[in-house]
Amino acid sequence: MSKNDVFEQRKKALQLMEDNAVVKQHLKGKLTARERITVLFDEGTFFEFDAFNEPAHSSLSGKQSSFGDGVVVGRGLVQGRSVFAYAQDFTVMGGSLGFTHGSKIAKVQEMALKLGAPIVGLIDSGGARIQEGMKSLAAYATIFRNNVRSSGIIPQISIILGPAAGGAVYSPALTDFVFMTNQTSYMFVTGPDVVKEVLNQDIDMEGLGGGNVHASKSGVAHFVYDDEEHAIMYARKLLSYLPSNNFDPMPISTNVQFYETRQDFLDNIIPDDANRPYDMKDIINILVDKDTFFEVHEKFAQNILVGFARLDGKTIGIVANQPKVMAGTLDINASVKGARFVRFCDAYNIPLLILEDVPGFLPGTEQEHSGIIRNGAKLLYAFCEATVPKITVIIRKAYGGAYIVMSSKNTGGDFNFAWPSAEIAVMGPAGAIKIVNRAELAKSDNKAELEKILTEKYKNEIANPYKAEEVGLIDEVIIPSDTRKILITAFEVLSNKQYSAPERKHGSIPL
Ligand code: HXC
Repeated sequence: MSKNDVFEQRKKALQLMEDNAVVKQHLKGKLTARERITVLFDEGTFFEFDAFNEPAHSSLSGKQSSFGDGVVVGRGLVQGRSVFAYAQDFTVMGGSLGFTHGSKIAKVQEMALKLGAPIVGLIDSGGARIQEGMKSLAAYATIFRNNVRSSGIIPQISIILGPAAGGAVYSPALTDFVFMTNQTSYMFVTGPDVVKEVLNQDIDMEGLGGGNVHASKSGVAHFVYDDEEHAIMYARKLLSYLPSNNFDPMPISTNVQFYETRQDFLDNIIPDDANRPYDMKDIINILVDKDTFFEVHEKFAQNILVGFARLDGKTIGIVANQPKVMAGTLDINASVKGARFVRFCDAYNIPLLILEDVPGFLPGTEQEHSGIIRNGAKLLYAFCEATVPKITVIIRKAYGGAYIVMSSKNTGGDFNFAWPSAEIAVMGPAGAIKIVNRAELAKSDNKAELEKILTEKYKNEIANPYKAEEVGLIDEVIIPSDTRKILITAFEVLSNKQYSAPERKHGSIPL
């Protein structure tokens, strides 16, 4: 057989696989592995390798997968930058991970790490290939180890577009961001049948581990979309904010637009009544470059907001309390969500902006018994540990332990600003006067009136931002409408930030 014949035969084999795959996948409302790759990469840039790797032989069923063993791997460009990817093909033995399949993924992971480029996994798999037994488990273990080795060096993104079951969920879980789709993707350690058998509970796959469940309840998924194209396109968008690796510079946008005329809105955006909520997203959207706020974990722990944005064209990470949800209190989920985001930004040198309006940690037995102490400590640890430029703006409430946690000056905040509406103290006025003025209040004939007077006095004499400024815990009280301008200058000032930390293997974060 001539070289040309071999070439033609291989092309035909690939085409046949593709034709079968198209029908099967489309019938389920899903794309094929190669179609997904096409959506992910800039047109015509994908360079595939290992397409003809032979599958391992199995003794169990005689069944064998086809060329490439059910996974497409390679490298392409996303907005002109190098990105590696693998896409599992469910039409080949359910996308199950055999030895060859796993080795291909491990190889592309290792190349991405060696070459300092992000990696995207397009996952659609029935998990470990049963016929290959331990070999497929070993292949998974290699993939997990590679995930951990790459963590903090190259961004890793998982896009779940079908099943991810059993131990197979742990590769996505080890990556930085998980995307899912509604109705067509699901993740669980044990499926509905096992749940029925062990617990006698009836639940379907969507209810147990569908996209919405993981985006809103478990927090496993950072993003969920209605269809595959959107999920993949938004993964491209996410990549546009990130550096390729922990040493590369951040991508900078030269097309800077912002809401110039809306800056004045900020002077009146905080309600007169300190207990009235407002939407922190309105503040974020006015401050950052137009339409650049890209929220992460939008549906999970909505009392805290995290996400990327651009300020004067440069990527920043934002962590903000959301007074609209649970008054912006910090609970377990919010603490863990915030901590993870802060650590990601720190690993990739993304400066942090903290917008603060937090009355405290959420009280209650449920939170205490579930470990708010242990989990709240994660956020505290993450902010203390982060060495990227950190700028905090106290918008309104900043009370007690929650004030300290949210990147206060003494945890290493580089610039800590406050709006005139800021209230900074050990606790809010209501609680404080009940303790400090207990005797006085007990004796009073007009308790309500006295409470009003004491509250005003407390706000004026103790909880106001000028007191914090006097002792250097606030660098400056700023006019809200000047905030964007000040932030741009402050981040520019901090752009040369140098740091040195004591030598150690790694810290021991309270997991
Ligand atoms: C081999 C598999 C397979 C697997 C699916 N297939 N999963 N082959 N190993 N793990 C094959 C099926 O036999 C079938 O082959 C084809 O893929 C499509 O599967 P269907 O069941 O027809 O598809 P569907 O109805 O959509 O169901 C998808 C599914 C189901 C929910 C994923 O296939 C399933 O439950 N699979 C097993 C999941 C699982 O338990 N995996 C092991 C998890 S433990 P034919 O020839 O009929 O088309 C694990 C350990 C990892 O992964 C540990 C890492 C530490």
